[in-house]
Amino acid sequence: MCGIIGYTGDKSAQQIIIESLHALEYRGYDSAGMSLFTSEGIRTLKTQGRVDELDKKAKEYDLNQSNCGIGHTRWATHGKPNETNAHPHGTQKLMIVHNGIIENYKELKKILIKKGCVFVSDTDTEVIAHLLDMNYTALNDKIKAITQTVKMLKGSYALSIIFRDEPNTVYGVKKDSPLLVGVGKGENFLASDISAFIAHTENYLRPEDGETVKITPYEVDVFNAQGKKTEKPLQKSANTAEDTDKCGFNHYMLKEIFEEPKVLLKTLDSLTCNFLPCFNNENDLTFFEDIGSIRIIACGTAMHSGLVGKFYIEKYARIPVTVEVASEFRYSDPILDEKDLVIIISQSGETADSLAALRLVNEMKLRTLSIVNTPGSTIARESEYVIHTPAGPEIAVASTKAFSVQTLVLMLLALRLSGQNNEFIKERIKSLYSTVTDSLHNVITDTAAIRSAAKILAKHRNLFFIGRGCDNYLGTEGSLKLKEISYIHSEAYAAGELKHGTISLIENGTPVIALVTDDAYSEKMRSNIEEVKSRGGYIISVCAESCNKIKDVSDINITVPEDDTFARPLTAAAVLQLLAYYTALELGRDIDKPRNLAKSVTVE
Ligand code: AGP
Repeated sequence: MCGIIGYTGDKSAQQIIIESLHALEYRGYDSAGMSLFTSEGIRTLKTQGRVDELDKKAKEYDLNQSNCGIGHTRWATHGKPNETNAHPHGTQKLMIVHNGIIENYKELKKILIKKGCVFVSDTDTEVIAHLLDMNYTALNDKIKAITQTVKMLKGSYALSIIFRDEPNTVYGVKKDSPLLVGVGKGENFLASDISAFIAHTENYLRPEDGETVKITPYEVDVFNAQGKKTEKPLQKSANTAEDTDKCGFNHYMLKEIFEEPKVLLKTLDSLTCNFLPCFNNENDLTFFEDIGSIRIIACGTAMHSGLVGKFYIEKYARIPVTVEVASEFRYSDPILDEKDLVIIISQSGETADSLAALRLVNEMKLRTLSIVNTPGSTIARESEYVIHTPAGPEIAVASTKAFSVQTLVLMLLALRLSGQNNEFIKERIKSLYSTVTDSLHNVITDTAAIRSAAKILAKHRNLFFIGRGCDNYLGTEGSLKLKEISYIHSEAYAAGELKHGTISLIENGTPVIALVTDDAYSEKMRSNIEEVKSRGGYIISVCAESCNKIKDVSDINITVPEDDTFARPLTAAAVLQLLAYYTALELGRDIDKPRNLAKSVTVE
């Protein structure tokens, strides 16, 4: 939901801002802009569309001598994605870029208009610019003016600000939206995330909500909400510039699917000892004791991994699990018990809906565990117990490797809670190792059947995923992946449920992707497939090599390796991700940046 960057140093601010915006583009990409200090004052450039458009425009001007500025890539919340609404917004005194939503902007705007302010955009952000201008005029102190301004705002924000009367200096402040300070040598950065400055420095500070930051090329000052200077520990990022490089792949999505064997192995190595689950906080044994039931709360793909987790935890640990869409959690007037464990799953660790649910649970003083891919993220920091998923940065908007790692963590958690004998658990973990180090590689490299199926799917506007048990849940993720990057409408159904109504949508040639990763369901699945076939459905099955019952009734079969059934969701997930990828490729879609979406959804 919008990427922001501020730079001050000895390099070309224009180039650094463009580079950084490219790295942040996953957060939103409908318009972009930047403001730079030049010898004639601040110069602002904005464009509708991608950062490339802004780059083209910037090249028309000779602004390379500028060493300080701010930039923005937008995912529109208020006002159309056009040049007028693109950030930065500003006044005679300052320019700002904003990520977040100001909930009381309408009330504030009315007051400001009465006071004579003239608005040019439809954004909530412009309200902040005018308020800050007024407070700066009244207080003649930038830190006090920023502190005073944010007190008047309701909602979420990460701001990067430059004042016309103070070249080479950028200010920042945040609440419920991410903002980091990249600390370099003779240059400093403010950004929504590390990827924006990792090519220049791995050192960073993490301001808290309400703290104001001031950066110049050689200094970083952080002020608390009372305006007093405060010390922040310098942190080092484990990410490298290579993590955010495409490394020869045409798309980040494909690169990230290909990283799955590596990151799943890393997960197994970090969460098991001698083939038994051993989590980072194992000395705190009481955390996992006496669990009445488990609530998994998450959004989108992360929520789908929760569904697979539910299947595993209920099957192996016999603990009841409910999975809830984070944005609906608070409206369900949740009934929770002190014995409940709440699990929040999030790749970014910043998803506003999941964070709001976590905060509600924290108010109830219940046990919270988060499974988060971004160390130091807000969800990680506000949870009682954290399991970090070592998937590394995920750049493609469609989540792939993070899903697979989240799923693996939940499988391990199911075994950890299972109370099964060590031999049984060791066997399962050994099978996971074998899938991850061996058969998964074959799945992602031998894609002939997947590509043939993708060619068929690309010709249709509607299709279905069906499965039973865990496959039913995997289908929901396969369906979401396909929708988000190919724009083909698809729905995932419990195979036995289709005949209760939805089967009326099957007509001649409608593709139906039948998942049968567990041979135990093959008899019943065969019947469901026959039902669809007799109504003209075109069957693409995903089943194990030996499962002839299913292959015989399929138009195309994509085989998953004959691994232990326990480990099969990992190979099946890769098949579904690749199926979505090749279908979108067939249709010439913008795979890494699908329309209307953003990677990190930091608004509710
Ligand atoms: C995944 O492909 C989606 N883009 C989206 O559903 C995502 O999983 C969801 O927004 C949750 O994000 P999070 O994992 O960062 O919390």
